[in-house]
Amino acid sequence: MEILTALITGTSSGIGLAISKKLLGLGYKVYGISRNYSNDLKLEKNYIHIEKDLSDLKKIKELKSLSKEIESLDLLILNAGIGLIGFHEELDEEKMISMLNTNFTSAILLTKYFLKKIKENKGKIIFISSSTASKASPLASAYSATKAGISHFADSLFEEVRKFDVKIFTIEADIVNTNFYNDTRISVYPNSDSYTEASELSEVVEFFLNQKKSVIKKISIEPQKKRVEKKTRIQNDFI
Ligand SMILES: NC(=O)c1ccc[n+]([C@@H]2O[C@H](COP(=O)([O-])OP(=O)(O)OC[C@H]3O[C@@H](n4cnc5c(N)ncnc54)[C@H](OP(=O)(O)O)[C@@H]3O)[C@@H](O)[C@H]2O)c1
Repeated sequence: MEILTALITGTSSGIGLAISKKLLGLGYKVYGISRNYSNDLKLEKNYIHIEKDLSDLKKIKELKSLSKEIESLDLLILNAGIGLIGFHEELDEEKMISMLNTNFTSAILLTKYFLKKIKENKGKIIFISSSTASKASPLASAYSATKAGISHFADSLFEEVRKFDVKIFTIEADIVNTNFYNDTRISVYPNSDSYTEASELSEVVEFFLNQKKSVIKKISIEPQKKRVEKKTRIQNDFI
C-alpha cells in the first residue's frame, strides 16, 4: 500500500505533537519541524525530525531546499506558533518579530514552497488558527492579527486551488491545554470543562482527512466553559 507523507510544523509539543502521533497511527510518514525534538517521537521509525527555528526568516528560507528532498507530499500542516500577550506598546519588539515570523511568515512561505507538490497529489493543507482570528482580542492584538491573517490566507488560497482538487482546512481553536500559555500571564483553568485537549484537535484533523466530496473547510473548537486563570493582574485588565 502507498504510504502517504505529511509535513507539519511545531511537532515538539502540544497540538503539533498530538497531530503527529495521530498521523503516524494512521500510517503516514511524518516530517516534523521544530527547534526541539520530542522524546515521544524519537523512536517512531516513520517520523523524520527537522530542527529549525521558524522565528528566523533566513532559517525559514532554508526550507525551500526541503521541497526538493521530499519526493511526494500529501498533507501540509502549519501549526507552529507562540502567543505574546500584553499591552501592545509594551511588548518586546524582537519577540514580536519572532512571533510574526513563526505564526505567519513561516506558514505563508512553507505553503509557497510545497504547494506544487500538494497539487501534484491533490493533497490537503491544514492551518491551525485561533478563535482570536475573528474577534477583537485586547492584549493580543498582534497575535490575533497573525491568526486573522492565517484564516484569511486559507480562505483565499482555497479559492485559488480548489480547481486542482486541493483541499484547504482551518481549525480555529481556543484554550487548548498545552505549553502555549507557559510564558504568558494566563494559564488554563484546571477544570477539564474549561480547556480543550490537544488530542481533540487531532480528531478534527482525522475528520478533515476523511472528507471525500464536499468540503467542511473550517472548524471552530472551544471548551464548554470560557474561563482562564490569571497569573498576574495588570491595570485595565480586559482578559
Ligand atoms: N493552546 C491554545 O489555547 C491555542 C489556541 C488557539 C490556537 N493555538 C495555536 O496552536 C498552535 C500550536 O500551539 P500549542 O497550543 O500546541 O502550543 P505549544 O505546546 O507551545 O506548541 C508550539 C509548537 O510550536 C513550535 N514553535 C514555537 N516557536 C517555534 C520556532 N521559533 N521555530 C519552530 N517551531 C516553533 C514549538 O516547537 P519548539 O519550541 O520546539 O520550537 C511547538 O512544537 C499555535 O499556532 C497556536 O497559536 C493554540
